Amino acid sequence: MVESWTAIISKEIEDVEKTIIDTLHSDNEELDEMCRYVIEAGGKRVRPIICILSHLACGGTNIDRAISVGSAFEIVHTASLVHDDINDNGEVRRGRKTLHITHTLSKAIIAGDFMLVRGYRALGDVGEDVMNIIVKAASMMSESEFMQKDFEHDLLVTEDDYYKIINGKTAMLIYASAMSGAYLATSDAELLEIIGDYSHNVGLAFQVVDDVLDVIGKDVTGKRVGTDLMEGKPTLPIIYAMQDPTYGSEIKTLYEKDSISDEDVIKALELIKKTNSIDRCMEKATQLVVEAKKSLTNLPDSEYKDALCGLADYIVRRNR
Ligand code: IPE
Ligand code: IPE
Ligand code: MG
Ligand code: MG
Ligand code: MG
Repeated sequence: MVESWTAIISKEIEDVEKTIIDTLHSDNEELDEMCRYVIEAGGKRVRPIICILSHLACGGTNIDRAISVGSAFEIVHTASLVHDDINDNGEVRRGRKTLHITHTLSKAIIAGDFMLVRGYRALGDVGEDVMNIIVKAASMMSESEFMQKDFEHDLLVTEDDYYKIINGKTAMLIYASAMSGAYLATSDAELLEIIGDYSHNVGLAFQVVDDVLDVIGKDVTGKRVGTDLMEGKPTLPIIYAMQDPTYGSEIKTLYEKDSISDEDVIKALELIKKTNSIDRCMEKATQLVVEAKKSLTNLPDSEYKDALCGLADYIVRRNR
């Protein structure tokens, strides 16, 4: 990701790219090529970036370990995307056709599993505290996907249910990435709490904006807009839009449908945009980012702390 606040770790980000490719090497040519296909398509690299910046902002000097652990999280994240696209019928990812379309469903499942194994192994010896956080995050990712599935097309989904889902499916991995970086630097409980609060709120805001981009995103997202609606996903933009006094009932009817045509998806997206849903979602995301930055108050000043603020601001500004 090329953003001004990433400049201070540009060398580390380059190392992350190399580490990921090395870690995913397979002697099976097709499997190796599949991993490269999805990694080399790019991605924002938010998880390694937050891991490395948290490490440095806590005074860490073990940069090689922060790079290898951050890379491991990016691999685990990428594996979850490969599997996510199978579950969500995602056709485009990072601007490329998804692996299950280009290389068959069965090979995509196996490639995702392969990435998970290599990713977890690359975490290395992170210590018991960090391992507990990682295991909890990984378990919650699966549990929240189940919860999300059970709420598909369900009109009764609440905002509270939504936050539970996104906490588990997205925020926890971002939190785990940041905490792992911090633990490699310090055992100071106050610093760890600061990074924990910061990254948790950043993680929640990140998914709220992802869900907004599914409604208003342009080509640069590298994904197909409207996929959540197509799948009846209980996202915040949809929840808020269904509360609209004028368009709510029509949006509910479309959301409830088990199978919805491309025309109806376009229609639903237009209706959502007519409500105040997107503004309300962005207000929520902004509040979460403000909270995140507030958590950093007692973190010693440094250029890395500034970069963590830059990352938080980027979350609500991003268009991909
Ligand atoms: C997409 O993650 C899935 C979510 C958790 C929202 P990213 O938006 O971080 O995807 P890449 O890695 O940049 O492609
Ligand atoms: C994130 O949710 C799922 C993962 C944690 C992998 P989405 O299903 O909204 O992610 P995208 O939009 O497909 O990237
Ligand atoms: Mg999904
Ligand atoms: Mg998806
Ligand atoms: Mg999404």
